[in-house]
Amino acid sequence: MSPNTKLYEGKAKILYSTEDPQVLLTVYKDDATAFNAQKKGQIQGKGVINCTITSALLQMLEKNAIPTHYIDCPSSNQMRVKVVKIIPLEVVVRNIAAGSLCRQTGLPEGQILPKPLVEYYLKDDALGDPLLTRDRLFLLNIVTSEQLQILEEMALKINHHLQEFFTRCNITLVDFKLEFGTDSQDKILLADEISPDTCRLWDTTETDPKARVMDKDRFRKDLGDVESAYQRVQQRVLSVLGS
Ligand code: TMP
Repeated sequence: MSPNTKLYEGKAKILYSTEDPQVLLTVYKDDATAFNAQKKGQIQGKGVINCTITSALLQMLEKNAIPTHYIDCPSSNQMRVKVVKIIPLEVVVRNIAAGSLCRQTGLPEGQILPKPLVEYYLKDDALGDPLLTRDRLFLLNIVTSEQLQILEEMALKINHHLQEFFTRCNITLVDFKLEFGTDSQDKILLADEISPDTCRLWDTTETDPKARVMDKDRFRKDLGDVESAYQRVQQRVLSVLGS
C-alpha cells in the first residue's frame, strides 16, 4: 500500500498509512458526534486539543508501565501510532455514577461508587454498542479469559494513574472509555484516545452540576461553552505536566 493512503475515517479521527507498515498516522478532527452520530457538530480547536491531551496522557501512562500505541506527534493534530488489531470493545471505567449507568440502574448522578466499575461494550455502531456480559464476551470470541483478565488489570491501573493525574489538575475523573489492540506479538496495548470526548471530567472547584462539566457532555446536553471547557482541560493538563 502506498504511504499516506486514507485507511479509515471515523467520527473524530482519520487514519492514514505511512511509509512504515508498522506505523499509522492519526489525524484528529474538530467534528463531534453524539448518540451514535444522531447529533453532529463541530467543536472548534478540538482536534488539536484532543491530540495534545491524548499525547500527554499516553506518555504519562507509558512512564507508569502501561504499554500504549503512542509514538509521537508530527504536528499539533496528528499522532503517529503503532499498528494494532483493535479489540472490538469499548472498555468503560466508572468512579462516579453518571450517564448510561444512571439511566440503566436508577443510581443518582454523582454517587461515588464503592469501587471502580469496569464494563465492556461491543464496539458496533449498527448494534448501538450494547453492554456485554462476561459470557457474551466469550460467546462472541472477542477475548480469551486470560486477555479479559489483562484488560481488567490494565483498565484499573490506568484509572489509578489518570485519577491521580486529574486530581492534580483539580479535575474529578467521573468515568472514561478505553480501547485496546493487539500487536504482532499478541501483546495488548492501550490504543485510541483519552480526551474530553472520551472521559467525563468535572471541575473540582465548581459545585454547580452544569458549571462543573468540562467534557463532551457539554455538547451532548447543549450546555454551551464547549470550546472553552476543552481549552481549560488542556491548559490544566499542560500546566500540571510543566510543574
Ligand atoms: P456512558 O455513560 O454514556 O455509557 O459513557 C461512559 C463513558 O464513555 C463516558 O466517559 C463517555 C464515554 N463514551 C465514549 O467515549 N464513546 C461513546 O460512544 C460513549 C457512549 C461513551
